[in-house]
Amino acid sequence: MGSYELALNNGKLFFNNSFIDAHIAVLDGRIAEIKKVEIHDAEQIIDCKGKLILPGIIDAHVHFRVPGNEKKEDWVSGSKAALHGGVTTVLDMPNNNPAIVTADLLEEKRKLVEKDSLINYGFHFGVSNGNSRELKNARNIASFKLYMGSTTGNLLVNDDSALEKCFEIASLKSKMIVVHAEDEKIILQNAKKFQNESTTKVHNKIRTVEAELEAIKKAISYAKQFKTRLHICHVSSKEALSLIQDAKKAGLHISCEVTPTYLFFDERDVEKKGSLLKVNPSIKTEKDRKALWFGLNTSQFDIIATDHAPHLLEEKQQDYWKAPSGIPGIETSLSLMLDASEKRLIQLEKAIKLMTEMPAALFKIKNKGKIEKGYDADLTIVDLKKEFVVKNEDLFSKSAWTPFEGIKLKGKVDKTLVKGSLLFDNDDIIINKNKEAKANLEVGYYG
Ligand code: DOR
Ligand code: ZN
Ligand code: ZN
Repeated sequence: MGSYELALNNGKLFFNNSFIDAHIAVLDGRIAEIKKVEIHDAEQIIDCKGKLILPGIIDAHVHFRVPGNEKKEDWVSGSKAALHGGVTTVLDMPNNNPAIVTADLLEEKRKLVEKDSLINYGFHFGVSNGNSRELKNARNIASFKLYMGSTTGNLLVNDDSALEKCFEIASLKSKMIVVHAEDEKIILQNAKKFQNESTTKVHNKIRTVEAELEAIKKAISYAKQFKTRLHICHVSSKEALSLIQDAKKAGLHISCEVTPTYLFFDERDVEKKGSLLKVNPSIKTEKDRKALWFGLNTSQFDIIATDHAPHLLEEKQQDYWKAPSGIPGIETSLSLMLDASEKRLIQLEKAIKLMTEMPAALFKIKNKGKIEKGYDADLTIVDLKKEFVVKNEDLFSKSAWTPFEGIKLKGKVDKTLVKGSLLFDNDDIIINKNKEAKANLEVGYYG
């Protein structure tokens, strides 16, 4: 018996933006010490020689489908998928069934998630056309999520006075508005115009760059008026990114995210993979994809998230109009970014920061995102040298497919720890029998 519950020895840990050789001692689920000398007085000792120890990945944009669509993903399968991807904290979207637009519905969801979660979690709260009172009542939330264009589920704000109101309340409550930025009017007009086309290519003609720009412009003007913090999800075009940068330069509190979907695919892939790559916003051109990489490397993005949007393969294999929009991604994103760093597409330290420290800071999540004394021992241990082939059969998500099936990646998650508990090791989930360790996985926020 030692004085610490766990020691992680001999790893290279991500500390202050670079890698250092050090040893981590864990006590009560927190990082108790970071030491220069190896630690022997611990109940459990893990040797991390040759591995990198990262802060647990924080995915600020997932759709775990609880309540209402558990056949696509439930919180157990979603948690396992997260652990497989090295993700220790998720912020879940409100486009459930029913949509999470009242404080009561949020409390019901909270109970369901608390019962099942293996990982840390937080919730984005939905804005609807008439729920301003609920926005005031919702407690412990990451943000107000605003859908300016319709997508999976029925969350949509297409009433300008409701839009105005939510920016005002968010500002008063010091909450951020997180936007799915596509303009509903433009989408509807285009859908009518191209209703007789049926290839996946038509998705781009309906969900155009203009639709994205129009919504962002509108959101920016309200954010300016009410001094609201604004976050634009899954930027998909060059022009959208530059619009956001202009607003940033003008002093607005605006941030944005990129997801691997838009970094690794462009319209040519959509032609090959069809409805599997049907996603909102649509996947744009090679020019856009390259601009997103350039933006990533020039610090124009604030976070990398996945927009993990599980749908079953049989649903996705339907024809264009029937197939649902959305792509699972939580199990592949870290490896994709590690592999990208090996290929010199992005600096490793930068990618890690965008997946850990930056989402924690952006959403003001307490005690997470860094390897530091006193922080929660949410840790992801990776083997940067390990090559593997992405396979559907290896996934834990109920959706059980990935558009990256068959590709070879270098950089693999070896172990994932949540608050000091080893929950994923060597391709397997370890179900923690200790109930105590499962308690209190909901995140708190500063401010
Ligand atoms: O393609 C999408 N799918 N975009 C969204 O905004 C929602 C998501 C989903 O929930 O399936
Ligand atoms: Zn979205
Ligand atoms: Zn989403």
